[in-house]
Amino acid sequence: MTSRVIAIDGPAGSGKSTTAKAVARRLGLAHLDSGALYRAATLAALDAGAEMSGTAIVALAKSLPVRLDLTDDGFRPEVAGVDVSTEIRTDRVTERVSEVSALPELRVWANEELRSAAASHPRGVVMDGRDIGTVVFPDAAVKVFLVANGEERARRRLLQMGLSTDSGSVRKKTEDMAERDRKDSSRAVAPLTQADGAVLVDTTNLDFEEQVDRVVEMGRKAFS
Ligand code: DC
Repeated sequence: MTSRVIAIDGPAGSGKSTTAKAVARRLGLAHLDSGALYRAATLAALDAGAEMSGTAIVALAKSLPVRLDLTDDGFRPEVAGVDVSTEIRTDRVTERVSEVSALPELRVWANEELRSAAASHPRGVVMDGRDIGTVVFPDAAVKVFLVANGEERARRRLLQMGLSTDSGSVRKKTEDMAERDRKDSSRAVAPLTQADGAVLVDTTNLDFEEQVDRVVEMGRKAFS
């Protein structure tokens, strides 16, 4: 059976989350940012001073719990009932999240959470991440692989964080993001890669409305 899921994968800063959110709004679906779950688990582990092992973090994530709570238009990351949407974007989480998300046991737990969160939504979801079209929902109705060149991704990420986009900042951010992409693409389990059947969309020179329109069009065709 084809899931009522639009899967959007791609490297950091390719515009996955902003695109997924806009597509979800246009199609009346919920947006689910799967990276937020990995970030929330990382935050919980750091705050608890937990051992950075899959077994320890999964046990912690289940007991607190770390989860995605269904809201009106999407899912909110929570740790022990507290909304952590802002805290999961801090540097201390960003610096450790690739390491945590590479732990195989943690990915098994995350995949179960992501599938059950999607199933809890009556209309369907637009889910963004690294392995949504390859592993979490290989039978998604629409699969998109979003890419953009490194500098453009760095620039967008700085703008999103309200930081300066002078050439030194862009260079430093490009290097940091390239390092995270390298880790996400070379890990043993569910590395970032274009899924079979995914449509490649390069957003380097597309304006935002154009990229949203393209995915909305694919969704309309698939769900009609
Ligand atoms: O999209 P993001 O930067 O918030 O993702 C945070 C980290 O989580 C990123 O380093 C890769 C990882 N991730 C993953 O491994 N699989 C996903 N489906 C989503 C994110």
